[in-house]
Amino acid sequence: MGGVSDADFAPISRSLCRNIKSATESPSTAYLHETRQRRSPPHTKACRIVSSVGPAGARPHQIRIVLMRSLVPMRLLLDHAAENDYGLAAFNVNNMEQIQAIMEAARETDSPVIVQASRGARSYSQDNYLRHLMLAASELYPEIPIAMHQDHGNSPQTCISAIENDFTSVMMDGSLREDGKTPADFDYNVRVTREVCEYAHPRGVSVEGELGCLGSLESGHGEKEDGHGAEGRLSRDQLLTDPDEAERFVAETGVDALAVAIGTSHGAYKFTRKPTGEVLAMDRIVEIHRRLPNCHLVMHGSSSVPQELQDIINKYGGKLKQTWGVPVEEIQRGIEHGVRKVNVDTDNRLAMTGAIRKVLSETPEKFDPRDYLKPAREAMKKVCVERMTAFGQAGWAPKIKPVSCEKFASYYAMV
Ligand code: G3H
Ligand code: 13P
Ligand code: ZN
Repeated sequence: MGGVSDADFAPISRSLCRNIKSATESPSTAYLHETRQRRSPPHTKACRIVSSVGPAGARPHQIRIVLMRSLVPMRLLLDHAAENDYGLAAFNVNNMEQIQAIMEAARETDSPVIVQASRGARSYSQDNYLRHLMLAASELYPEIPIAMHQDHGNSPQTCISAIENDFTSVMMDGSLREDGKTPADFDYNVRVTREVCEYAHPRGVSVEGELGCLGSLESGHGEKEDGHGAEGRLSRDQLLTDPDEAERFVAETGVDALAVAIGTSHGAYKFTRKPTGEVLAMDRIVEIHRRLPNCHLVMHGSSSVPQELQDIINKYGGKLKQTWGVPVEEIQRGIEHGVRKVNVDTDNRLAMTGAIRKVLSETPEKFDPRDYLKPAREAMKKVCVERMTAFGQAGWAPKIKPVSCEKFASYYAMV
């Protein structure tokens, strides 16, 4: 390690600092020196090994890590998408196979990636597993810029804990109170969302806010399929983002992206027939984008619930009721009007479940989880490839220069 100057050193990441602390008890003086990885396979050329030269007593094998070079703030990706008129799918993850499916789809299509984890996902997989899975993704796919996003944070504390776990982006969903069920008023929403921006931006972490409650304009009900969603009947006003309020909300909070309520809801049961403008209010997006042309808009509940995925599940013993999702062409219209992030979870769940059902039904003698998880992963990858292509993010990964959150923080200091 001789000949290393201070200029070669970079501050360590927050989570690594904790690891080093337990390894050396001297975290504050710990610095890292980046060295080129020797004998990299071709696809990991850009990847660098980081090793400690700082803390006395640290054993190299305890603190050698791969720098998370390709983990970037979501804002970087959204800005690029806006400059080049495309949208980005944000796929939910809970486990290794889902992350693998997304990353393989990204490599096949050269797409930048947004991976997101709900509170439920974080408690299902545990933060440590999730963090290391993301680290593995950035190590194995260094050519793909990846944003790691907290989906539907219910409180500033949830968002802060995500940031402490190296998420590069958080959603403060202040459209609902902390219980995730009670619709919140505008002032509460502004207060908690601004608080999260004040914490996140100096760290270079991006923030998504939400205005208006997700839910069905057909039934007047919020959605609770996944445990997060308004309870009881909501008025049409509550279910649609108000463009005047949107202008005030963005100005008063400083959010990087705004999720809008337009009649979509989470889960498979969104619409009882192919949606028209009455129940899928794309015109709201057009109007909000007209007033806020520089704000990145987000569509939640945007699975398309394709008929063929419903059919596979039902063919192999499932019991889904007939339902309709958000047509891809409507999402594409949204992308033409400022939508930069499109949340998709249900379609991937349907694809995986259909593939698993098929294997178990056709070959009931099988019991090795790999026999059904591999086809499940393939089926999810296919959906991801289709959405990445349809939303226009395919081909852009090589054009985006990764920037760390630490560096990105200066962006907010300037504005
Ligand atoms: O927030 C919506 C996503 O579909 C996540 O669902 O809370 O069941 O993980 P989840
Ligand atoms: P879907 O249930 O339509 O996939 O929506 C996912 C979502 O909005 C996650 O926040
Ligand atoms: Zn959502």
